[in-house]
Amino acid sequence: MKSPVCIAVVGSGYVGLVAAACFAEIGHKVFCVDNDESKIAMLQAGGVPIHEEYLRELLERHHPTSITFTTDLAGATREAQAIFIAVGTPQSGTGSADLSYVDAVASEIARSIDSYKVIVEKSTVPVYTNEWIRRVVERNGVPRELFDVASNPEFLREGTAVVDFLHTDRIVVGTDAPRAADLLSAIYEPLTGGSYYQWANSVPGHCHVGNLPPIVHVSTKAAELIKHASNSFLAVKISFMNVVANICEAVGADVQQVAYGVGLDARIGPKFLQAGVGYGGSCFPKDVAAFRYVAEQFGISFGLLSEVEKINAEQKQRFFQKVRSALWTFRGKKLGVLGLAFKGGTDDIRDSPAIEIVEKLLQEGCAIDAYDPAAMERTAEILPPSANMHYVGDAYAAAEGKDALLILTDWQEFAELDLERLHQRLRYPIILDGRNLYKPEHMASHGFSYMSVGRQDAQPGREVLVKAGSFVEPKRAI
Ligand code: UGA
Repeated sequence: MKSPVCIAVVGSGYVGLVAAACFAEIGHKVFCVDNDESKIAMLQAGGVPIHEEYLRELLERHHPTSITFTTDLAGATREAQAIFIAVGTPQSGTGSADLSYVDAVASEIARSIDSYKVIVEKSTVPVYTNEWIRRVVERNGVPRELFDVASNPEFLREGTAVVDFLHTDRIVVGTDAPRAADLLSAIYEPLTGGSYYQWANSVPGHCHVGNLPPIVHVSTKAAELIKHASNSFLAVKISFMNVVANICEAVGADVQQVAYGVGLDARIGPKFLQAGVGYGGSCFPKDVAAFRYVAEQFGISFGLLSEVEKINAEQKQRFFQKVRSALWTFRGKKLGVLGLAFKGGTDDIRDSPAIEIVEKLLQEGCAIDAYDPAAMERTAEILPPSANMHYVGDAYAAAEGKDALLILTDWQEFAELDLERLHQRLRYPIILDGRNLYKPEHMASHGFSYMSVGRQDAQPGREVLVKAGSFVEPKRAI
């Protein structure tokens, strides 16, 4: 490591906190700033507000030596050479990104600048945001030579955020100022130069000295577009496969076989072709809407993205209808639900397809016992325990005495259940799997009526129409 850079990260959400911990991990001195006093107090006391692999270890390793938690943005700005803005950019009523937090933070930073700073946007923002940040800072009286603005979008996924940061496919730096580009190159040098991967205690992942992450220097606008285009394209991939899954159901094919065959084409690739209950989370729904809105603002119709949104909404509805056809009527039915988070490995329930389905089932009069390894506490804040909604301690308790069991989130532990035990617990051995975690014929051989997405329904004693043939079950690509 050449020389450590003093960095401020503003915002301690998924992106900000992980970035702060990882910058400290690669040798920098970091101030992690948030205006939420209780969150900062919790972090100062050693608490970790989100469920994220390796995050606790990194915070324990670097706090308080090289990472400081503070509410003092002015102080952190004065100390730091680079200030990363990682605050929320929620969806507004029109679908556009609400940039008021970015605006407020940029103004506050501007008021404290007394030497050269690089202000870096890390939040997902529409094209031209760099330009706006520059204007806001200038409007607050900061001379042009005292700052530059850069875009350094983040591509981490929740649940694997630390590994995604330290073993990234690419580091995108968008700036039109060489000084800013040099500072960002210096910040990421332990990764791009490989020294981090030679360290005995480094977090393991796919990067190593023979496979270093590339740094891509582009214009600010290109960097902003890379982020929106990447998330939107991944959402297109998922929705495309969800429609293919529906065709598979209609013709009697298996979508996993189709996805495997399609994904072997190197131009397409195997990832993000997993059919299911539709995508969710705090990024794809918001970013697809925001990118469509950006295009509209420039008079460009991005009907493809409107269609993706429609397909995603229908996919959840379609699964709900599948549950209805399995149960005939809803009122008074007792259901077990496995999974509330928007995907496995996280406690995040924002825009979770599972929550949407659970809410609809409750409205229809079902009684639900739900289990999620990490997301029950957060779900209980919006769906408090009631006569019809209970939270239980494991998958078998969720199955106990139920008319059917629903799998709504792809947690690894849901793919490894003791099927005999599960069968004994259920009142009727019916499983509706929105994540395709099991093979239909395997479930039928264990006595279950098993319905999944884009594959034939399986019934005990009845042959599953789609035989495996020479198809070898692929490792799940997500
Ligand atoms: C996504 C992107 O993958 C990250 O690269 C990006 O940095 C992040 O958004 C962001 O903008 O902050 P994330 O939302 O954490 O990451 O989760 P993903 O793993 O991408 O999954 C998103 C949704 O798609 C989940 O609901 C997941 O279950 C679903 N999905 C994913 C599928 O239905 N099928 C797949 O094949 C893959």
